[in-house]
Amino acid sequence: MTISTKIEEAGFKPASRIASIGVSKILQVGARAAAMKRDGLPVIVLGAGEPDFDTPENVKEAAKAAIDAGETKYTALDGTPALKKAIVEKFRRENGIDYDIDEVTVATGAKQILFNAFMATLDPGDEVIIPTPYWTSYSDIVEICGGVSVLIPCDAKANFRLQAEQLETAITSKTRWILLNSPSNPSGAAYSAEDYRPLLDVLIRHPHVWLMVDDMYEHIVYDDFAVATPVAIEPRLKNRTLTINGVSKAYAMTGWRIGYAGGPKALIKAMAVIQSQATSCPCSVSQAAAVEALNGPQKFLKERQESFRRRRDLVVERLNDIDGLDCRTPEGAFYTFSSCAGVLGKLTPKGRKIEADHDFTDYLLEEAHVAVVPGSAFGLSPYFRISYATSQAELMEALNRIKHACSALRN
Ligand SMILES: Cc1ncc(COP(=O)(O)O)c(C=O)c1O
Repeated sequence: MTISTKIEEAGFKPASRIASIGVSKILQVGARAAAMKRDGLPVIVLGAGEPDFDTPENVKEAAKAAIDAGETKYTALDGTPALKKAIVEKFRRENGIDYDIDEVTVATGAKQILFNAFMATLDPGDEVIIPTPYWTSYSDIVEICGGVSVLIPCDAKANFRLQAEQLETAITSKTRWILLNSPSNPSGAAYSAEDYRPLLDVLIRHPHVWLMVDDMYEHIVYDDFAVATPVAIEPRLKNRTLTINGVSKAYAMTGWRIGYAGGPKALIKAMAVIQSQATSCPCSVSQAAAVEALNGPQKFLKERQESFRRRRDLVVERLNDIDGLDCRTPEGAFYTFSSCAGVLGKLTPKGRKIEADHDFTDYLLEEAHVAVVPGSAFGLSPYFRISYATSQAELMEALNRIKHACSALRN
């Protein structure tokens, strides 16, 4: 079964800016799994891009109080003063960066931050360097905004991290941005201050290149990994860096749709122009909730981290115990990105040859009823992503099934 990746319907002509963009492969996997479930098949979906925890009680209470207090109207265009203040304090407290109030912005999710930033800065043909594997939305947003994504493969041998020489080679006179994500969706790999240093040195030599960093998963790191963000490491880049974050993953608030960023005043202002004609402002109640998330107790973050760490260890250990798979231990996020190079060329019991990672993930879905996402969906093959933001029991069952499915493959 295949699902069209393009938006095609008789009589409908999409705008050229979305002609090359399809429905995300992650969503396609989810749709197939959901259809199989509806048919009564016991499918386990390891595709979720969100924590399986609930939003903390104190945050929910703050939202209820905001509703009762009548905070139900349009707010300031790119964030209430209270939320901007909380963000400024968060950047100072957790990241060691000093932003002024007019150097921060709030949007309807980090996704809208990315959209606002690219929409406000890209002219047709401007290039954005994106290391792969990458969160697919990056290149789709770049393309919608008229830019060109320059994808640089960074495989497991490089710990899924961009190397300075690769960056140096990729930069052209048309490069507008380089976009880095740490810890990464989908690889879980993170950059330490030492890992960042050579990349930042390259950027210092190329003043026309701006840096966008997506720190969305900074609170989900393991083994005492020391989170670092570029502006804190290299303040000389502050006047051309956008530091993106949000409450979705750390505070289990994906549905509240609040993302934020710190950056140079002129960029922040330009982003607000885009937002003013898109959403007018982020949701008032969600902003009140985000204030409480950032200002309230943070102790639960460690407990949740520990729960994710146990699940990471389980998944990595079990994957590495399966012939043909090879999984690097990620520093953060709630994903593993395992190589499946060792199963390529093998035959399924039905005689189908596994030629690529998507054949392998199709096989897992159809025969083992486990839904995972192929590396090709994130621009790097042959790999597959597991989201372990689900129960240990479900993970164990899924890994048993994957092991069984792999042992049924023939040469
Ligand atoms: C790396 C990364 N950045 C940003 C986002 C978007 O977050 P938000 O919910 O704030 O739009 C996601 C969501 O999956 C993500 O994985």
